[in-house]
Amino acid sequence: MATIREVAALAGVSVATVSRLINRNGYVNKETERKIQQAIEELNYHPSSIARGLAGKRMDVVALVVPDISNPFFPELARAVEDLCLSRGYTLILCNSDNDREKELAYMKSLHRNSVAGFICASDSLLQEDLQELRQSGTPIVMLDRSGNADDCSIIRADNRKGAALAVQHLLDKGCRKIAHIYGPQSIVTARERLEGYEQIAQQYAWYTPSLLIPGDFRMESGIEAVQLLLERHPDVDGIFAGNDMMAIGALKGLIRQGIQVPEQIALCGFDGIGMTRMTEPELTTIAQPIGEMGRMAAEILIGKIESNGGENRFYELDVQLIERSSTSST
Ligand code: RIB
Repeated sequence: MATIREVAALAGVSVATVSRLINRNGYVNKETERKIQQAIEELNYHPSSIARGLAGKRMDVVALVVPDISNPFFPELARAVEDLCLSRGYTLILCNSDNDREKELAYMKSLHRNSVAGFICASDSLLQEDLQELRQSGTPIVMLDRSGNADDCSIIRADNRKGAALAVQHLLDKGCRKIAHIYGPQSIVTARERLEGYEQIAQQYAWYTPSLLIPGDFRMESGIEAVQLLLERHPDVDGIFAGNDMMAIGALKGLIRQGIQVPEQIALCGFDGIGMTRMTEPELTTIAQPIGEMGRMAAEILIGKIESNGGENRFYELDVQLIERSSTSST
């Protein structure tokens, strides 16, 4: 059975160009279209998406539902999902749910009616019964990063507890003797797991007190506000672990506004590993999630379920990496 990659190679174009022509979702010039059609005929290429298209059904399309497209973590994740889907001849529809269950359900019901082949969701608000209809219709779903109380589907997430413990240990290794944690919304599993990872280490020390836990909402502004509250409570704090990079960027802004030297007076570490952490001054130390690997893996698993009609469900917890930069190391 010829593949989309062989068609692309024979036609001398990219897989994405062949996919655009097959899925009719982008411009392909006449000469290129002729070469691709010729390669399709020569190789007798008939992916399921063409057969479905000819039968009047929608081409192979999958949907990715994310909670906050304004947070750079999710576009980086979506890019990895899209690249893998395109390379396998699938078109991706991206939906932003604003963490709103009603919005998520509206998207999923509408797309399901339009024969979307499968869903990848980063959601902590979907309930088991919300996924029932999908399950009964045999439409596969993969939970990515956040997973709510979905259990009988594959779930892919970074090792948040290990990452948080890595961040606190790094701050201790840099000489910090009183470390606070700005935590994300506890309705979100990734934020809960990072708080657990912080407490796993911090509670071993005499300096630990629950008032070192400062609430945030994963957005930059909450990081600015958190620093204000923290310094009122603990003016002697010398280390901060923020539960995601956007709050860490806010915390950095808040510290600089108060004339505090980072890292000389207070060292700061974030979590995610988004590109923006290289744009701050000082650049942010962070715990990098394997964002690309998570996205590619979710797409591979979903397509595998679409094409093989099933496959076992598993929980995948991927390793994280400390990226040390100048917000924790003045040398
Ligand atoms: O920055 C957004 C956060 O929400 C990330 O840490 C990611 O894990 C998601 O849960």
